[in-house]
Amino acid sequence: MTILAIETSCDDSACAIVRDGRTVLANVVSSQIELHNITGGVVPEVAAREHLVNILPTLDRAFEESGCSWDNIDAIAVTSGPGLISSLIIGTETAGFLAYLKGKILIPVNHIVGHLYSAWLGHEEEIAFPILTLTVSGGHNDLILSRGHGQYEILGQSLDDAAGEAFDKVARMLGLGYPGGPAISKIALNGDPEVFQFPRAYMGKSNLNFSFSGLKTAVKTAIQTSGPLHDQIKANIAAGFQKAVVEVLSDKVMRALSKYPEIREVHLVGGVSANLALREAIKFKVGENITFRVPLDFGFCTDNAAMIGAAAYHLYSQDPSLYEGISNIVPNANDWQIAK
Ligand code: KG4
Ligand code: ZN
Repeated sequence: MTILAIETSCDDSACAIVRDGRTVLANVVSSQIELHNITGGVVPEVAAREHLVNILPTLDRAFEESGCSWDNIDAIAVTSGPGLISSLIIGTETAGFLAYLKGKILIPVNHIVGHLYSAWLGHEEEIAFPILTLTVSGGHNDLILSRGHGQYEILGQSLDDAAGEAFDKVARMLGLGYPGGPAISKIALNGDPEVFQFPRAYMGKSNLNFSFSGLKTAVKTAIQTSGPLHDQIKANIAAGFQKAVVEVLSDKVMRALSKYPEIREVHLVGGVSANLALREAIKFKVGENITFRVPLDFGFCTDNAAMIGAAAYHLYSQDPSLYEGISNIVPNANDWQIAK
């Protein structure tokens, strides 16, 4: 089954063509990063207007790259939420109209569920349930237990800022660009993580939720009280901040593993999964007996449409009757219900 997938939940217009949920024939992302760099973050209306301009050219590039024509496409998948409502609408309207025009099946996909399947892309071998997935992005931060396709349980979530959001805000405080994650991890390489001791919010022994707002405030205080911000101080702050985030995230993964010993694989996905320090920490703590996977390509970590196509395939295959007669999709900005 070949699926054309569209993702516009935030600031990237993305189109992909994916075969049988695993083989990526094209994965095109039209980035708006340069535009949002000017404002140091995403302005929703600006993002939506850019989606309007970019979505059809992005779609054309996906067809070109894959060598597919409309005859090869069996279904159209699209992100229905959560995300910025004005951005989501551009994707769902485009997908709905194309499905109507071309007579294709329409499959709505939850953005977080999409991220879960980013770790499946490109793999041919069997992937074993139950799977524990840590999704770490700019807009969301979750610990999810998957017992099968369509059977997802949120074990923990961020109570305030998501990890990527904390990276972005700290980067802004340090005068680094947007997105903050890559900039922080780069300068952290030259820093001493022990100079600044930042707080770790564990919120009790068995709690699986996350909170990064206290850490963010501690970084702000450190910046205000440590004198002129020369490069070495910036690097030390970045290293101390990154270490605190990595420790909390990896420790919460271990807590979930001890609570659910039946888990067979641990997946790390989302924009922050590009962070090498985080990858290493989780891989090391998880050990040899559990399979640890990250997306095979850095382009599958950040928002992309290939993951939406992969999720759509697996959900559709579970029960095709659920998707009969869907002719349009109303996006839901706050759709954290990931059960379907
Ligand atoms: O998944 P994503 O593209 O968008 C959302 O759904 O939010 O994630 C973007 C986030 C940004 O906050 C960015 O700073 C972060 O991923 N990020 C990183 C790294 N690369 C991207 N954070 C830490 N280290 C990185 N290397
Ligand atoms: Zn995302």
